[in-house]
Amino acid sequence: MHLHQFSFLAALAGAIQPVVAVPHSSRAQEGQCKKTTVAILGGGIAGISAAQALHNASVHDFAILEYRDTIGGRAWHVPFGEDKDGKPYTIEMGANWVQGLGNPGGPQNPIWTLAQKYHLKTHYSNYDNISTYNEHGYKDYSHLLEEYDNAYDIANMRAGEILSQNLQDQSAQSGMALAGWNPKKHDMEAQAVDWWKWDFEDNFTPLESSLVFGCAGDNLTSNTFSDHDNFVTDQRGFNILIKEMASTFLKKNDPRLHLNTQVEEIEYSKDGVTIHNSDGSCVSAAYAICTFSLGVLQNDAVKFTPKLPDWKQEAIQKFTMGTYTKIFMQFNETFWPTDTQYFLYADPTTRGWYPVFQSLSMPEFLPDSNIMFVTVTNEFSWRAERQGDEKTKAEIMDVLRKMWPDKNIPEPTSFLFPRWSTEPWAYGSYSNWPPSTTLEMHENLRANNDRLWYAGEATSPTYFGFLHGAWFEGQDAGRNIAAIMQNRCVNAKESKLRECGPRRHYETLKGTSPLADYTAVNGWTANSFYDSNTD
Ligand SMILES: Cc1cc2nc3c(=O)[nH]c(=O)nc-3n(C[C@H](O)[C@H](O)[C@H](O)COP(=O)(O)OP(=O)(O)OC[C@H]3O[C@@H](n4cnc5c(N)ncnc54)[C@H](O)[C@@H]3O)c2cc1C
Ligand SMILES: *[C@@H]1O[C@H](CO)[C@@H](O)[C@H](O)[C@H]1NC(C)=O
Ligand SMILES: *[C@@H]1O[C@H](CO)[C@@H](O)[C@H](O)[C@H]1NC(C)=O
Ligand SMILES: *[C@@H]1O[C@H](CO)[C@@H](O)[C@H](O)[C@H]1NC(C)=O
Ligand SMILES: *[C@@H]1O[C@H](CO)[C@@H](O)[C@H](O)[C@H]1NC(C)=O
Repeated sequence: MHLHQFSFLAALAGAIQPVVAVPHSSRAQEGQCKKTTVAILGGGIAGISAAQALHNASVHDFAILEYRDTIGGRAWHVPFGEDKDGKPYTIEMGANWVQGLGNPGGPQNPIWTLAQKYHLKTHYSNYDNISTYNEHGYKDYSHLLEEYDNAYDIANMRAGEILSQNLQDQSAQSGMALAGWNPKKHDMEAQAVDWWKWDFEDNFTPLESSLVFGCAGDNLTSNTFSDHDNFVTDQRGFNILIKEMASTFLKKNDPRLHLNTQVEEIEYSKDGVTIHNSDGSCVSAAYAICTFSLGVLQNDAVKFTPKLPDWKQEAIQKFTMGTYTKIFMQFNETFWPTDTQYFLYADPTTRGWYPVFQSLSMPEFLPDSNIMFVTVTNEFSWRAERQGDEKTKAEIMDVLRKMWPDKNIPEPTSFLFPRWSTEPWAYGSYSNWPPSTTLEMHENLRANNDRLWYAGEATSPTYFGFLHGAWFEGQDAGRNIAAIMQNRCVNAKESKLRECGPRRHYETLKGTSPLADYTAVNGWTANSFYDSNTD
């Protein structure tokens, strides 16, 4: 009976999506799996960009396997609240800014290129347009913003020296302290500024972030393109770009796109990759590109067979995946100043406590919407996720009443925030580099395991955390695989690729202190390591 039911469902699934379904218990033989040349795991921007790069290189035999019922990944929007006609607004749970647009004549951020092509509605996000508050209401401590910026310029220059001379990295916190920005633990206004200037972008504290790669990442996006960021309010949703991009090579109901398909196991070897899905179906491919988030990889949500080598496992666990939470509120009126984009709140006891409110109820964003949102990260995100809507809402209302003590602030009519840390297809928001990471360590995150390649936001050394990072990584993986298959990597000069062929990895990552340093003079005594390794 059970077996019968199972095969019926499996057959049905097979009829809808032409992936041959097989009972999971009898491990699918490669011969029974649907065959494709390249399996693209995930339909976020990296997966779609990889598919487009393959298409551009005349590789049309690929299959995109996507967990959800739509493409777009972490560019994810939902309906929220309502307008005057009772129609819901569209708000972005994930990516919300096009970051670093590009200067006229200079290189353009590919996301901005797409935004222009598809007339995405965006508006300049002016981070200088910020008012400062503490628990007694408005208080001007904007001079601290300038102090931070001055120190950052110095720290950034030093970071550049460290990078170019291959010196030892440090935390962004120590780099900033050495450059003159050293906020005291109890100076909560300085702590609020510190949060706004660092955590708001990087998702982690300066103590948890690499100085070198934090600054380099910032440089690469703002110098390569521009330091202009636009906020997206397009009511079609930000991921309309990804859908439009996909429609240039995927037909409606294209059999190569498999939605509602959860990959459970990836079997990789030198000869190919077999992917097993939770519905019992499987795909056997010559190559695969895994674009799952670092959170998915860190949470063992997918099984790798054989077990990933140590160098890959270390890389996966070494980088960090943050949780970045926008908490949306709609009110029956706009009780906050209508001419300012950002409001910074310094809580008297806790850094990161509902620190930045952002108004959408402005002519350039969602006019007369009475919508604002507040952003929290990591422990405050997890706390909000654990305690739920009501307690979180009450805490925010308490903050708002402190910021505007003279106002009679109504309860929100709509209230919503995503649970990024538990979304089984993301397990977090975006990645970061912790202090003292090296490029070689990152190369290990990016490197392929035999025929299994990786792409996505986290594999980008230059633009990690951004949509454009994921776009470039998808393109790079797609191009490389096409070039390998078409034997274009034989003569590197022939191919226009910067780099062609399998990616490099480092079996051994080296520290910087030679064994000769471990001496009594350096205090290295009374230790078995010393006893057995010297003299
Ligand atoms: C809250 C938040 C704010 C952000 N803000 C910005 C911003 O303002 N600007 C910016 O540029 N970037 C921002 N980002 C980052 C940006 O969203 C990501 O860099 C980008 O979307 C990542 O694309 P990707 O293709 O690498 O990964 P994803 O979009 O995660 O795509 C991976 C796909 O794989 C699928 N998948 C996962 N597991 C499985 C499985 N087991 N089986 C099958 N499919 C699976 C997922 O459903 C997903 O569709 C933000 C992200 C978040 C979460
Ligand atoms: C594919 O080619 C088109 C047309 O030249 C280009 O606009 C697009 O960016 C290319 N896609 C990728 C991922 O390289
Ligand atoms: C923000 O910009 C608006 C419009 O230019 C201006 O009126 C307002 O004073 C600015 N607010 C802050 C805090 O800079
Ligand atoms: C960032 O750019 C600035 C200005 O060009 C430069 O001085 C600095 O060294 C760069 N920093 C890094 C980490 O690359
Ligand atoms: C909003 O609701 C509050 C009560 O919750 C009420 O006092 C106020 O007048 C309302 N504002 C508008 C503009 O209707």
